[in-house]
Amino acid sequence: MDIQQIAVIGAGTMGNGIAHVCIQHGFQVTLVDISIAALEKAQQQIEKNMERQEKKGVLSSEQRATALQRLTLSTHLEEAVANCQLVIEAATENPTIKRQLFENIDKAAPTDCILATNTSSISITSLAAATNRPGKVIGMHFMNPVPVMKLVEVINAYQTEASVTQSIVELSKQLEKIPCVANDYPGFIANRILMPMLNEAIYCLQEGVGTVDSIDNIMKLGMGHPMGPLQLADFIGLDVCKSILDVMYAGFGQAKYAPCTLLINMVMAGKLGIKSGEGFYDYSAGTDQKQVSIRFR
Ligand code: CAA
Repeated sequence: MDIQQIAVIGAGTMGNGIAHVCIQHGFQVTLVDISIAALEKAQQQIEKNMERQEKKGVLSSEQRATALQRLTLSTHLEEAVANCQLVIEAATENPTIKRQLFENIDKAAPTDCILATNTSSISITSLAAATNRPGKVIGMHFMNPVPVMKLVEVINAYQTEASVTQSIVELSKQLEKIPCVANDYPGFIANRILMPMLNEAIYCLQEGVGTVDSIDNIMKLGMGHPMGPLQLADFIGLDVCKSILDVMYAGFGQAKYAPCTLLINMVMAGKLGIKSGEGFYDYSAGTDQKQVSIRFR
């Protein structure tokens, strides 16, 4: 399928990152959100990240300017999807909201338009079932920060047509990403492997096996991870980690996926990581000058 016009739904961190890579690689993008303030913030973030790319020599100033011209902002979902060949949904990670969104998008988008979701844990098969084009629904799971991370986890719903998977694999390559195909089981592949590791790191802290520093440094220095697991959990958001673990625990019914008590307590206490200013680290002085703020007690 020839994809030129893309609508990205949701202007949060993932939505603006996805819009960024799409306009950078020549696609016309309408970024849609219910909040004008969120759209304006997203546009500023894209401009800032492209400036960073220009300074690093990834983009020339002409390429940056041309890319930014390909971006349109909109608060009108139905209008924005009406002429698209692809919609990438990156809205709030809430199954009821996403199902409703898919129903609405399905009514407004052209019948051959592919509907992709960036969900990290919600069943894509259930979203496909909310539409009249289940074969054209697929997962397109980008990683944060989207302009930097090479992976796109392409997830087939039970109903996804092979030609749709092929189109999304091709598109991911055009975005200079590396597509890896998975099937629709709780957590898919990325989070099924990542989240138990992060949970286990939190168990190590909870049980006093090590401090935040020692746990993170062991994984950074010993395993070559760019961030330690506790730092990464803060980066992803502790509420997001807990909710993905909840989905896997409910889906598989196995204790190994149950979020550990310290994670549950921190989420209940509103210590969500970078987004709340504090998680396993304190971000009140910014993300570059972090200090360990939590010790096992
Ligand atoms: N936009 C554009 N470029 C960016 C950027 C952004 N938002 N953020 C960072 N960069 C660029 C920088 O300019 C820099 O470029 P060069 O290599 O050319 O110098 C490069 O990325 C590295 O950035 P920094 O030097 O600022 O910082 P760093 O070396 O500490 O790297 C990081 C930062 C890329 C985030 C790195 O720490 C990392 O890879 N961390 C792991 C991230 C990860 O695991 N993400 C997946 C999370 S899971 C997920 O997203 C899915 C889910 O469902 C939960």
